[in-house]
Amino acid sequence: MTSNVVSITENSKKAQNAIETLQALVADDMAAVNQTILDRMQSQVALIPQLAGHLIASGGKRLRPLLTLASARMLGYEGKRHVDIAAIVEFIHTATLLHDDVVDESDMRRGKETANNVWGNKPSVLVGDFLFSRSFELMVEDGSLKVLKILSSASSIIAEGEVLQLAVIGDLSVDEDTYLQVIEAKTAALFSAACEVAGVIAEAGHEKEAALRAYGANLGIAFQLIDDALDYSAKQATMGKAVGDDFREGKITLPVLLASRRGSDEEMTFWKRCMEEHDQKEEDLTQALALITKHQTIEATVNRARHYGDKAKDALAIFPANEARKALEDIVDFCIERAY
Ligand code: IPE
Ligand code: IPE
Ligand code: MG
Ligand code: MG
Repeated sequence: MTSNVVSITENSKKAQNAIETLQALVADDMAAVNQTILDRMQSQVALIPQLAGHLIASGGKRLRPLLTLASARMLGYEGKRHVDIAAIVEFIHTATLLHDDVVDESDMRRGKETANNVWGNKPSVLVGDFLFSRSFELMVEDGSLKVLKILSSASSIIAEGEVLQLAVIGDLSVDEDTYLQVIEAKTAALFSAACEVAGVIAEAGHEKEAALRAYGANLGIAFQLIDDALDYSAKQATMGKAVGDDFREGKITLPVLLASRRGSDEEMTFWKRCMEEHDQKEEDLTQALALITKHQTIEATVNRARHYGDKAKDALAIFPANEARKALEDIVDFCIERAY
């Protein structure tokens, strides 16, 4: 028991080191990205920078632009285009968060009240649209049709993922493959694009672009699996988001999907009432957590994430060993061991 506790602490320390190392490695580039983000979220319409600034200034891990910058570094890219491209990636992410919090009716994001809670749904959706459109302007400024193709296709895939998720909400007959399809689309597509575009601007060639795409896609799947585990297992203060959001929304994520499959008929009746009929009482989240613990489905979800994390690491094998490659390998562990 003691050794288990020690290893959990050690793993989370290693995870924290991994993100700090990655941040330090590309700190100068990231400062330029943040400046671009601030410059390009401006508008004469005051509500736009106000609302977007609320979310952007709350921080966030900036993981996707970090991936773009580190991938470019790994390839020895010496130009300047990676800065705007990383900003585009974060703009797309920010836009999807604004929309996602409206759809999920979430109250908390990055440790603060969500924009939809502060300003309402309509401004959140519209400012999300602004950020999406601004990201497309930046793509056009970059001028590469290949970059435009990768990032625009990721944007439509994310939207498809969110719509597919909505279409199957509360549906306990959904299978693991459909769940995977949702997370590949809503999350992994942007991770994948964020890495692949670095290969494009560095003119790394087909094989390396494909490897970066695979690295990002597998990392993104692992990242969302852990996000879905954290929704039931994390502390709100650490995560910066409310615990139990997915349950309240009736989202059938892997911890619930597996618990419902592994449980008794009586347990299935509970899941059906809460998720399908959306009839929830105060104490139901506690009951859901008890069933998730009983059937060890957080552990199962984390194990699935490790599998995709390993695939991500293996995809990096074709690149020359350097500091950036090591940081990209280690960030896989952060994505799995993270607590936020
Ligand atoms: C949240 O992403 C949305 C998901 C895909 C789970 P992050 O966890 O990367 O959010 P921030 O940017 O760090 O706040
Ligand atoms: C990720 O799914 C959504 C996006 C890709 C925008 P979630 O709905 O689980 O993300 P969080 O938990 O709200 O950050
Ligand atoms: Mg959400
Ligand atoms: Mg979530």
